[in-house]
Amino acid sequence: MVRNVAGDMAELDPEDFYLLSGVEQGMRFSEWVRRDKLPDYADLTAEEIEYRLDRCLDRELIQRKTIQYEGYQLTFEGYDALALRTFSERGTIEGVGSPLGFGKEGDVYEVRSFTPLALKYHREGYTNFRAVNREREYTADRDHVSWMYTARKAAEREYEAMEALYPAVSVPRPVDHNRHAIVMDKFDGVELARAQLASEQAVGVLDLIYRALTTTYDHGWVHADMSEHNVAVAEGGITVFDWPQAVSVEHQNADEFLERDVANLLSYFARKHPHEVGDADAAAIAAAIADGSFETVRAFLE
Ligand SMILES: Nc1ncnc2c1ncn2[C@@H]1O[C@H](COP(=O)(O)OP(=O)(O)OP(=O)(O)O)[C@@H](O)[C@H]1O
Ligand SMILES: [Mg+2]
Repeated sequence: MVRNVAGDMAELDPEDFYLLSGVEQGMRFSEWVRRDKLPDYADLTAEEIEYRLDRCLDRELIQRKTIQYEGYQLTFEGYDALALRTFSERGTIEGVGSPLGFGKEGDVYEVRSFTPLALKYHREGYTNFRAVNREREYTADRDHVSWMYTARKAAEREYEAMEALYPAVSVPRPVDHNRHAIVMDKFDGVELARAQLASEQAVGVLDLIYRALTTTYDHGWVHADMSEHNVAVAEGGITVFDWPQAVSVEHQNADEFLERDVANLLSYFARKHPHEVGDADAAAIAAAIADGSFETVRAFLE
């Protein structure tokens, strides 16, 4: 679990951020940044470095390891602090509020701004075997695989998909992104998994989701991680979120991912609402989504 650094922000000086971004720069070349390189990277005197290292170590924004040399690395907390500072300098956010959800690969907080926003820090690479497998996709072309790179790539991919899809598809409006973090509109409603749908709403909601996947496909994307945990249901409709693993329809496995997305939702609805949603052919639904002809799941129910 990564600590919420929002409370540290007011205590940190500009020089603490010079140090943190110096360590970040050094991490582009090696996992552990040599102490003697820090004055250059951070543009601080050796004395100042010493003082800032202590402050940042105390707050666990960085960590130290001595192998052949004394090296430093950002922690997720330190990386969070850098992203948070960028967002507040840009005026994107005014403050961080309460947690909205902790997923396997992301921590999401409410954010204070002119309108209710959500801040999602990506945590890919934070010791998770599932994440490590997915990582291959993002990092196949790189030798130097770090959690920082993996989390940043995931955030970039999620933001890119949301920008491509908003507002045609009901996704949270993307507001800003930096490093491994994205800021988006806060959506209303609850996760489908926790929503108490009346049975007569089941087919209607499933249709809304499949139509969203149809528009998504038409815009060139497949979600590739669809489940009852990544859709929110509210009075006004649905929101599809959690897009870091989205792939282009050109991806060699795109149609396989689409069929899996369709099947995941179908089996959830069949389990929860067996009388309304019984057996249906996921492959046929996926094909209709891909060719743009999908209208209602009723046409596929046996
Ligand atoms: N824009 C938002 N507005 C309100 N709540 C949100 C928003 N984005 C995410 N959440 C909440 O945070 C939780 C985690 O978000 P999300 O599914 O994007 O993260 P994740 O960690 O990648 O998930 P997973 O565990 O599926 O990999 C969601 O289930 C939801 O409750
Ligand atoms: Mg999720």
